[in-house]
Amino acid sequence: MSIKIDTVIIDSDQVSRELVKSYLARVEDINIIGEFDDAINSYAEITEMHPNLVIVDISQRTQLTLDIIVKLSKNLRNAKIIVLSYDMDSQTVIKALRAGAREYLVKPLIEADFIESVEKIKDLILGNINDTTKCKVITAFSNKGGMGKTSIATNLAVEIANLTNEKVALVDLNFQMGDVTTFLDLNPAFDTSYVVNNLERIDETFLLSTLEKYKDTSLYVLADPPDLEQAEVITSENITTLINVLRSVFSYVIIDTTSSFDGKTITALDNSDLILLIAVLNLPSVRNCQRCFDLFKRLGYQKDKIKLIVNRYMENDEIKIEDVEDVLGHNVYYKIPNNYFAIINAMNKGVPVSDINHQSNIAKAFRELAALLSDNYTYTSTKHAKREEQGFLGLFKKKEKK
Ligand SMILES: Nc1ncnc2c1ncn2[C@@H]1O[C@H](COP(=O)(O)OP(=O)(O)OP(=O)(O)O)[C@@H](O)[C@H]1O
Ligand SMILES: [Mg+2]
Repeated sequence: MSIKIDTVIIDSDQVSRELVKSYLARVEDINIIGEFDDAINSYAEITEMHPNLVIVDISQRTQLTLDIIVKLSKNLRNAKIIVLSYDMDSQTVIKALRAGAREYLVKPLIEADFIESVEKIKDLILGNINDTTKCKVITAFSNKGGMGKTSIATNLAVEIANLTNEKVALVDLNFQMGDVTTFLDLNPAFDTSYVVNNLERIDETFLLSTLEKYKDTSLYVLADPPDLEQAEVITSENITTLINVLRSVFSYVIIDTTSSFDGKTITALDNSDLILLIAVLNLPSVRNCQRCFDLFKRLGYQKDKIKLIVNRYMENDEIKIEDVEDVLGHNVYYKIPNNYFAIINAMNKGVPVSDINHQSNIAKAFRELAALLSDNYTYTSTKHAKREEQGFLGLFKKKEKK
């Protein structure tokens, strides 16, 4: 006999409820046990039903509904919550995730995305995924120096830790000029070389006491070795083992790299679930990205593994995002705005940009990117219109987009 997922739908819009029900009908083992107009008045009734899955719209009375979600996730420990809303604002997304939502889906719903989210949550509920031991390894890379790898890896790691409260490791694999510790003003007692030399005695306690905890967060930093000689004896096999042991303890591992395609960097890329390929909107950077995509193809990486990030983005840039996408045959996953003042200020003080100005465009961008890359947010983007191949595009050979 199969186990049923007892599901409650809360949405003041009846048409939307019907739509959700019609989508749910396509997922096996879903058992709708209740439908409600709003969470606030129905809280007691919902709690008594002990649902496994709560699908709740927060477009109306957002804050009050979020307060109820906090209570539901505390009192219904086995229930998973999917939030729906017309609101795409990253602050609302983050609030919902912090309140206890597992997924945030923007309305109007896209059937395939909705079903995918429900299936994912269903697996979690049925215990098919061991939620706590599943780790995502994300590497920031560009084959050109100064594109923003360290800025992105560092701020992203801080924001993922803040958002999820799960254990995050930030690893500096830039053995030539690592500066993660400078960006976060840390002076760790241990580094990669020490960890690699003690691989046989590594366990959770060892790792959590060896990596440097960042302030009062769930972020742990592994610094590069202080001198090049120590770095040189670290082998590619060591890097693979290191990533594997980190996977067993942390929910997220964020890796900062050098700009060269050396063996250790490629090993890190091979062992990553996601590669953030960092570019800026100028010709040399785009050409370098093209080379990266060629190499990634030869290395057999799936297209989905690579997320193209445009850093230092300005609305009035001469080169347009659409042009870059056409040239590279790859959609831009995220644009990080140019904000020299905030970044330099943060670097000089050794803090993440959100500590400099929490409301700045760049701090918001890092929080949103963290939400996108953590497992809780399903992102729905609009397709770009077809464009003419001209000007900048003429300089490149066109590739097929995914
Ligand atoms: N979004 C941004 N807006 C403005 N300036 C930025 C932004 N991102 C990075 N920078 C600046 O670009 C410079 C390079 O950044 P960063 O050190 O993060 O790059 P990197 O790719 O790690 O460089 P390297 O290849 O030397 O390791 C820094 O001076 C930083 O202040
Ligand atoms: Mg760097």
